[in-house]
Order: sequence, then structure tokens, then C-alpha cells
Amino acid sequence: MKIKNICCIGAGYVGGPTMAVIAQKCPDIKVTVVDLNEARIAAWNDVDFGKLPVYEPGLDEVVKEARGRNLFFSTDVDKAIEESEMIFISVNTPTKMYGAGKGMAADLKYIELCARQIARVAKSDKIVVEKSTLPVRTAEAIKSILDNTGNGVNFQILSNPEFLAEGTAVTDLHNPDRVLIGGNDAEAIQSLLEVYANWVPKDRILTTNVWSSELSKLTANAFLAQRVSSINAISELCEKTEADVNEVARAIGMDSRIGSKFLKASVGFGGSCFQKDILNLVYIAKSYGLNEVADYWEQVVIMNDHQKHRFSKNIVQTLYNTVSGKRIAMLGWAFKKDTNDTRESAAITVAQDLIAEQANVVVYDPKVSHDQIKFDLEGIEDKIKVETNPYEACNNAHAIAILTEWDEFKTYDWQKIYDSMSKPAFVFDGRNLLDKQKVKEIGFVYSAVGS
Ligand code: NAD
Ligand code: UDX
Repeated sequence: MKIKNICCIGAGYVGGPTMAVIAQKCPDIKVTVVDLNEARIAAWNDVDFGKLPVYEPGLDEVVKEARGRNLFFSTDVDKAIEESEMIFISVNTPTKMYGAGKGMAADLKYIELCARQIARVAKSDKIVVEKSTLPVRTAEAIKSILDNTGNGVNFQILSNPEFLAEGTAVTDLHNPDRVLIGGNDAEAIQSLLEVYANWVPKDRILTTNVWSSELSKLTANAFLAQRVSSINAISELCEKTEADVNEVARAIGMDSRIGSKFLKASVGFGGSCFQKDILNLVYIAKSYGLNEVADYWEQVVIMNDHQKHRFSKNIVQTLYNTVSGKRIAMLGWAFKKDTNDTRESAAITVAQDLIAEQANVVVYDPKVSHDQIKFDLEGIEDKIKVETNPYEACNNAHAIAILTEWDEFKTYDWQKIYDSMSKPAFVFDGRNLLDKQKVKEIGFVYSAVGS
């Protein structure tokens, strides 16, 4: 079947950019992205492209090109379902915070709601595509809901996990390492494959059975996160032994069997995916009685928690074992550069730790809003100050903590910052961002992860 109308349920960090690129690359397909969240849809439709709800380099240009032509954002979910031959489910699948599997399993309530809505509304055959990250065998549950509550129309389910990373979403979508399509029906697979073939070389479109596809997404994130926890574990050993983690990463990364990516020691990984997906993997393994498998992967998250808390502990210890009443400037709040997303950001944990030690925490981030920072610290939001100017944030501070690797931090006048701070002026570099030699020459007491 040649696809002419696509509906995507969920206009978030995945649904928005993914569908914008499909619309850009497939001008003959009408793409409608729907969401229950009216404010989010209004922001996607804003005349000011600077106000799109997701900040991603280059995304405004893609939306500018396609919106109103063949890309539409709407809150009318039923209409978009009815009109389309292919429906992507791209809603959130957060960690479940209640009942069985609390704190581990994926909460599939939004997925189930989508399946029930599609079943209720669909009057013609549909291909339903799992774009959200889902536990292996979710397609079985979706199929059961669709077949048992539908109007007798035919549903095919495909798994098409998304591998984009935030901050590089547009380039990742334009030029993916691979596109993965899992399915049992050759015709349905072909329909989706033809959509991607408009811009992705065919040898990069991989087809598998549904279960392999679902499990590959969790596995990919687990492997990536494992690399970060592995290098972070070594960073602690480096700090004790005068080895330098950057040098170690470079040395091992040049081994082509290891590879150089994802070996940057940091204050800990964040983002909406890594922790959630590993915990989900752990839960699935446990549910099959595979306790050693579960424990193995859980260690990646345990190590990450340790890394985040270790960073704050080091600040307190270095500042003569007390930060009470001391001004600490945090540069960066997003979980990585080039995104306004703060979900699971290490900055949140570090701020909580420092506030618990009665520090006066001041934050500056170039893309995260004041409201978002307050929201992330719900309950203690009055204990934090947000500045819109980095020099203001650092003024009179006892210490600066770098939490996000924003490029602009490298270009600051660090002499001016030093002059405005309490002495000794400390910098805790959670991203190995600054030139160690230069900042030390200025007079800073400089401490970086892993060296
Ligand atoms: P998000 O929270 O940014 O967006 C999800 C959207 O779905 C929200 O706007 C929400 O209002 C909407 N929604 C929920 N239920 C709905 C319903 N019944 N009807 C209509 N709209 C509904 O989430 P996200 O970051 O885009 O992630 C979506 C999925 O993609 C998750 O499963 C995630 O694991 C996966 N994923 C995320 C990334 C990433 O980098 N963020 C990358 C790959 C995969
Ligand atoms: C991740 C996956 O990379 C992506 O394929 C998947 O679709 C969604 O989850 P994302 O979370 O957006 O993407 O960003 P990513 O670049 O993977 O970074 C995740 C976290 O790890 C960030 O906090 C980042 O700062 C940290 N990180 C990454 C490191 O600390 N060191 C590294 O070497 C790489």
C-alpha cells in the first residue's frame, strides 16, 4: 500500500522532529501530528519559529519548509486517525511510579489509551507503528486491544524504534546509521520502508521480526549507557592514581574494536531514555527469572547514581567540608548541550545535594527556562536562584560547577569571572570542558572529572 496520510500520536521530542523530517522528505504524504496537550500543539503552530516546544539545531528550518504544506499539528486526534493509513504511536513511556514494577517497569498506560482510541475510531485498515520505546512483546498487547475492541477492520503492527539523540535530532534523522523496522507482514513492512526510502539508502533500512526490533531499542540504549558508566567508573580510579581519564579514553578508543564514541567521562548521564530503558530491561529480565542478567544491567544505573552524588560530595569536601551559606554557580541545567530538555539531568541531582547542604545555588543555562528549572526542583524551588546572565551567576560565587557542555562556556572571559569571585575561586568541571592549563594560570582551583 502506498502511504498518503500519516498520523502521529504524540508531539514531543520524538514525534515532532521525526514527523517534521518525514514531511520534509516526502512532500506527497500528508503528515498530521496530534497531541492532547493544547499548549504544545499551539507552540508547534506558533508563527515565531523560535517558540517551537522542542529546541533542536536546524529544526526550525525543517518545520518552516513543511508546516502548512504537508505537515500539520492538531489536537483533533480522532480526525487524524480516521484520515490516515499509517499511525505512529510516539507517546511517552515513563518509568511506572505505582503498583507492580514501581520504579522499574515502563508505564504503558498512554500506549494502551492510544490503542483503544485507534480501535474505536478506525473505520478502515491501518498500519500501526510503534515509535515509542517499548518493552519486548508490547506489540502483542497492542494487537490484542486493536483486534478485540475494533470495528472489524484489519490492523498490522510494526515496530520502528527511534534512535535519534537530542541535540542532534535533525542530522540523525536526515542521515541515520540505520532505520529499524520490525514486523510480521511483508506488505506492511514494505509500506513503511518506502516512506524512509525517500531519503535513507536502502542498505541502511534493516528489517527484523517485531520482537527483535522492540528489544534492539532497549539494548542499544543499555549498551550506550554502559559505555558512559564504564568510563565514569574508570574516572574515579583516575582521580586516585593520577591517570587522566581523557588520555585513557583516547588510548582505548583508538582500538577499532572499542571505538572512540561515548567515552567522555562526565558528571553522569541524564536524559529521558537511558535510565528508564535500562530499568525497564532489568524489570523484563527479572520477570523471566533472569536475575544475573538483571543485576548486570542494573549496575549501569547504580554506577551513574554514584557518579552524580560523587560530584556533589567532591564540591563539599573541597570547599573545606561545608558549603552552608556559600554561593555556588551552576553552569548548565540541560542533560546535554544543544537541547532544552532537562529530564533526568545530572544537574538536578547535584542541585538537590548542594541545597541539602544549605548552599546558595545559582543557575544559568542558555536554553532552559526559569520555570523549567523551578519545576525540576519542585518542593525546594524557592532555594534556587536562576540568572539569565552567566557573569551575574558567577559574581561573588565561591565555586562554579559545570554541568552541561554548552560550547559558549568555553568562550567566556574567565579572567573577568575569576576577578568577580570569592577566593580561592573553585571550578568543578563535570564535563572536562575548560582548558585546564589556562584556568589554572588565571588562578582557579580547578577540579575535573577523572583527572
Ligand atoms: P514526550 O513526553 O516529549 O512526548 C510525548 C507526547 O505524547 C506528549 O506531548 C504527550 O502529551 C503526548 N501524549 C501522551 N498520551 C497521549 C494520547 N493518549 N494522545 C495524544 N497525545 C498523547 O516524549 P518523547 O521524548 O517524545 O518520547 C516519546 C517516546 O519515544 C518514548 O517512548 C521514548 O522512550 C521514545 N524515545 C525518546 C527519545 C528522546 O530522545 N526523547 C529518543 C528515542 C525514543
Ligand atoms: C539517547 C541515545 O543516544 C539515542 O540513540 C536514543 O534514541 C535516545 O537516548 P539522548 O539521551 O538524547 O540519546 O542523548 P545521548 O547523546 O545519548 O546522551 C545521553 C547522556 O549521556 C547525556 O547526559 C550525555 O551528556 C551523556 N554522555 C554521553 C556522557 O556523559 N558521555 C558520553 O560519552 C556520551
